[in-house]
Amino acid sequence: MRRVDLLGVDEVPPGTMKMAWVDGVDSVLVVNLDGEIRAFQGICSHEYFELDKGFLTRDSLTCALHLSRFDLETGEPLDPPAELPIMRYTVVLENGRVFIEIPDGPLPVNE
Ligand code: FES
Repeated sequence: MRRVDLLGVDEVPPGTMKMAWVDGVDSVLVVNLDGEIRAFQGICSHEYFELDKGFLTRDSLTCALHLSRFDLETGEPLDPPAELPIMRYTVVLENGRVFIEIPDGPLPVNE
């Protein structure tokens, strides 16, 4: 298991999202839902498209390319064409920073 420092909590105000990077190559979408920070894979599970270009609503995220919505609790797709959930990572907040805890090795991603 390893802990990866993504960004400062103050970089993601409530109701916003921001892309961060693991090992400089893998993207992670950090979402602030009314003060609760969550982290998901940054690329859509349907095709290669950055989810920070999508739209955040109260409890879902819409991919801007084909408009699948994803549940921000489970990561599950709510509409086609996406069929796989987006991975949600365990978030740890420490000293004003957002970390995720992931297995050693490459970032787990559904694609
Ligand atoms: S790339 Fe996201 S729904 Fe198709």
